[in-house]
Amino acid sequence: MTKHELKELLNSLTLKEKIGQMFQALPHIFGEDGAITGIFDENVETDDIIATVGSILNMYDTERMKKLQEQHLKYSKIPLLFMNDIIHGFNTIFPISPALAATFNPRLIKETARITAKESAAFGINVTFSPMVDISRDARWGRVCEGYGEDTYLSSICSKSMVEGYQGESLQNDDTIAACVKHFALYGAPYDGRDYNNVDMSERMMRNDYLPPYKAAVDANVAMIMTAFNTINGTPATINHHTNVDILRDEWGFDGVSITDYGSAKMCLSAGVVDNHTETAQLLIENKVDIDMMGGVYGLKYLGEAVKSGTVSIEQIDECVMRILKLKNKLGLFENPYKYFKGSDSISESERVNHRAIARQSVSESSTLVKNDDSLLPIAKDKKVAFIGPFVEKNDLTTHWAQIHGEREIGLYINEAVNSFPELKGEYSYSIGCPYLSDDKELSEKPENPCENNAKLYEKEAIEQAKKADTIVMLMGEPHELFGESGSRTEITIPEVQMALLRKINEVNKNIVVVLFNGRPLVLSELSELAKSIIISWYPGSQGYLGICDMLFGYTSPSGRLPFSFPRKSGQVPLFYSNIATGHDHPEGQFHKYVLRYIDTLNSPLYPFGYGLSYTEFEYSNLSLSSSTLKRGEKITVSIDVENIGNHDGFETVQLYIRDVKSRLVARPLKELKAFEKKFIKSGEKKTVKFEIAEEMLKFYDKDCKFNAENGEFIVYIGSHSLDDSNSANFELV
Ligand code: NOJ
Repeated sequence: MTKHELKELLNSLTLKEKIGQMFQALPHIFGEDGAITGIFDENVETDDIIATVGSILNMYDTERMKKLQEQHLKYSKIPLLFMNDIIHGFNTIFPISPALAATFNPRLIKETARITAKESAAFGINVTFSPMVDISRDARWGRVCEGYGEDTYLSSICSKSMVEGYQGESLQNDDTIAACVKHFALYGAPYDGRDYNNVDMSERMMRNDYLPPYKAAVDANVAMIMTAFNTINGTPATINHHTNVDILRDEWGFDGVSITDYGSAKMCLSAGVVDNHTETAQLLIENKVDIDMMGGVYGLKYLGEAVKSGTVSIEQIDECVMRILKLKNKLGLFENPYKYFKGSDSISESERVNHRAIARQSVSESSTLVKNDDSLLPIAKDKKVAFIGPFVEKNDLTTHWAQIHGEREIGLYINEAVNSFPELKGEYSYSIGCPYLSDDKELSEKPENPCENNAKLYEKEAIEQAKKADTIVMLMGEPHELFGESGSRTEITIPEVQMALLRKINEVNKNIVVVLFNGRPLVLSELSELAKSIIISWYPGSQGYLGICDMLFGYTSPSGRLPFSFPRKSGQVPLFYSNIATGHDHPEGQFHKYVLRYIDTLNSPLYPFGYGLSYTEFEYSNLSLSSSTLKRGEKITVSIDVENIGNHDGFETVQLYIRDVKSRLVARPLKELKAFEKKFIKSGEKKTVKFEIAEEMLKFYDKDCKFNAENGEFIVYIGSHSLDDSNSANFELV
């Protein structure tokens, strides 16, 4: 439709129809099935809803969706939008977001989102509530499993890549979907790590560390943004004018659609900042929020009332509705409301094969080897291997978001994966060994566990197998019931029942490899003493065990790098590398009073941000700068030689960090990641890696919240992780 036609359409709508566009319903309102992903509210308006509603949330039945669209269009000129939580893949399930961040491979990340868009568009989905780019430095928060880690720069790159992947060249294409970046803003920074809790943060920290990933999505033309559940400095994010209007709309120029999170509009009343939902409706409109997910507040009852009483004008309503119509128009729904129902068959088998190959590649690229004593990995193809642990019983290495619908591909069990490699000639045994969760965990839904009633028997079998094996591969970790939404924990540990089994196995055989499944950084201090090799695999998705076998048997080398600092103890969180010097800093491990430290553990993480080993080794040398003076508006080049001095080919992720040594404007972090390059380097090969340094990379929000870089001294570090200081050079900004 042309602009003019859209305007005419808008003008032809009644108030009820306009408000309907701003209302997002669960399919249950129409007696249809769908995933319920929040507290179900019976009290939403249902009057005439089928005729006027603008969008549907989380419906997963393509035939019924199509029928609903047909039914709706009998009454309405405006097609429905179908919006779903497609978080780490649709049919093909990819590793979870922190794992994708761990790839440090923006092209691959974009490709996963591209595939997800193709698969979900063919099913009839128009919008995904992804990417979630909430920076989090507190691993107690259960939703760190959905974000891209602790680092602002890495998360911003991931944010951009995901949006570009979902939205492709143009939203007009029928294999692209609109992305919705969330949760605006600061949802990942609740002050005690508990999901939904409040956030209080300085404007400077918010702008320097937390807002850039949302901004990166906006700069990549993201179609939608979702407000957050939390308050920001005392005001619910959903009605926080400073973030929603001053920053998002006015400063960043975002003119896409803004949507509340599930029921967050109604929560303004519980927060005690409004008298009633009609007042919330008015505030939402003033915040330029266009759609109310779950429709609690945007309905005739409250929004209609606000219009009637004059606190909301028709012009304000029109502005919101126009943004929604524009999105429907961009997606091409007016020309063909059924264009997204091409069906799964529209994706050819050869495309599917390619999707699986990318998912499999992502497993090695995201899995992070943090320990490999005695080169226990890779395992020779003729060894006796005992696979032990509760994940032996799992073939669905995915999370809640993939499990809320039946469209996902289910992967192979570990034994099936091993059997699919004809050249593996060793002896392989499999034993669950122990339950997945300790009995004392209070969970509303207890996961099924085959060894629940026979734990002793399984343990005995596992120990017998361990005794006979050359190598043990423990498949263990954090059950997905312990992370995700409302999945906050005070102890970020592996269930004790699994650790107890590991101790017993270690007593009979020390050649232990742990493949860890996790949704958050976990405390691995004891585990790192009991295992010789550790691969952190997160939740690797539908190609999980195939990808894991690729690494275990040396067909690929794990090449992930950690997107979070992994603590030594739970009490260290929030933990992140980009700290500011305090004046009480002191060398690690020496006892002194009056220095910055814990009494009972070191300051440093067990494994730092950016860390990861490989089956080979890399040596860095010859760091050199094209000039030690950077003039504003110009660039200098820094280069370094990276040589593969080991026996395997492999990827190295070369990381560039900068320290602003002195800043009178405000104290600056000891280090910040500013660039990286993931390079494939053959055994014996040396590559020169070059980066440009520009003034823009040195800018930050100062104490007056001005975006600036100050003249003076900087240090550039190039290395293999955030604590690697071995190669650095100084330069000056003039
Ligand atoms: C609530 C979650 O916070 C959000 O991320 C999700 O997209 C919505 N529910 C819809 O399921």
